[in-house]
Amino acid sequence: MADTVFIKDLKDHVGKTATIQGWMFNKRGGKGIHFLQLRDGSGVVQGVVFDKSEETEVFKTADKLTMESSVKVTGEVTQHPKHDDVFELQVSEIEIVHLVDGEYPIAKKEHGTDFLLENRHLWLRSKRQRAIQIVRNTIINGIYEYLNKEGFIKIDSPILTPNACEGTTTLFDVEYFDEGKAYLSQSGQLYLEAAIFSVGRCFDFGPVFRAEKSKTRRHLTEFWMMDAEAAFVEHEENMKIQEGLIVHVIKKALEENKKELADLERDVSALEKIEAPFIYKTHAEVVKELQEMGSDIKENDDLGGDDETILTNKYDKPIFVEKYPAEVKAFYMKRDPENENLALCADMLAPEGYGEVIGGSEREADYDVLLGRIKEHGLDEKEFSWYLDLRKYGSVPHSGFGIGLERLTGWICGTKHIRETIPFPRLINRIRP
Ligand code: 4AD
Ligand code: MG
Repeated sequence: MADTVFIKDLKDHVGKTATIQGWMFNKRGGKGIHFLQLRDGSGVVQGVVFDKSEETEVFKTADKLTMESSVKVTGEVTQHPKHDDVFELQVSEIEIVHLVDGEYPIAKKEHGTDFLLENRHLWLRSKRQRAIQIVRNTIINGIYEYLNKEGFIKIDSPILTPNACEGTTTLFDVEYFDEGKAYLSQSGQLYLEAAIFSVGRCFDFGPVFRAEKSKTRRHLTEFWMMDAEAAFVEHEENMKIQEGLIVHVIKKALEENKKELADLERDVSALEKIEAPFIYKTHAEVVKELQEMGSDIKENDDLGGDDETILTNKYDKPIFVEKYPAEVKAFYMKRDPENENLALCADMLAPEGYGEVIGGSEREADYDVLLGRIKEHGLDEKEFSWYLDLRKYGSVPHSGFGIGLERLTGWICGTKHIRETIPFPRLINRIRP
């Protein structure tokens, strides 16, 4: 019996007979020869079926193999005559696990995005979509690695919540038994703020929801967020933690995902430039700069999507845009002691036109001030009494931030639209498959 191995490990079996299990995604050939393109998730390999007579069982099986059929293929592992790192299987046996009857819906020809999204369950198998998911996985692991090293403990925040975190206009509500309305979480931040009093530094990582009527390349209605929160960390240090995290994750992706980034045709030289320190600018400076570039942004405006694009196209490092007008930001942000109208916050915008990837701030730590903000924002004071308690019992300066996983993945992979970076995207006009 030949060893069953992953395609990525075939290099260790040269000269021996091995079996791989996977799918045939393409087939070429000619008289007496079939070249089977095989993949198993770990890699791809070409299986060569050679039989001048075209009479053998294995040749006849290869003959009838249809695209995306699943197979177990056995053969001698050989090194490609021209490429050191390419291996082939000289096929001696094919066991069909499932023969696809008829044509595979996503054939070789070009398809429109709508068609591909409708067939997302199949589209995921493509080389490009696989590469994105592999990079996404590396990013997730990189985030865990860095935060664990920096003393952050994973704390899972709830998804069903009674209160809003990021404003009341983008909430998804659900009927919650006799308790009235509950909402799908927009961010676990408020719960992490409670947990820092227990563990000091913590983070969560999970799906969050925004009923945002935005139909842009940067918006999903369900996406994955990593919120981090730390006691005794103020605004400046908060940004330094983010900087370190981003540098770590990009370095890891460059090291571990060379093949995938090549499959994505990502210009890795742009990622190689990402080193600390990043660029730091205040919102006021950025507004001026944008106006000079032709934007109609006003002093007290939030940055629009186009503003983020034109600004970040100018730079080859991420930019922290600090101290936004408090009125365009969330209720929990601490104000700048030097100017009450500004929030002690920063958004990290990724270069190459990608725009906001992280939102963070120092949090208001004073009970009375925070209560005032809750009222100003028209939030239900009762639902925030637990959050206010945190300012009653051992309040400390603290800060945190939230990374949108799909935006970070989109930037690192170089995708145009973030819908490709999540396995099953939810958009305002799409919930299937
Ligand atoms: O800037 P946001 O809204 O910040 C928060 O939710 C804070 N509570 C986070 C915190 O301080 N713990 O969201 C954080 C990030 C954004 O920078 C962006 O990357 C991503 O989440 N994001 C979205 N990603 C995809 N689709 C959407 N609709 C998004 N909205 C925000
Ligand atoms: Mg934001």
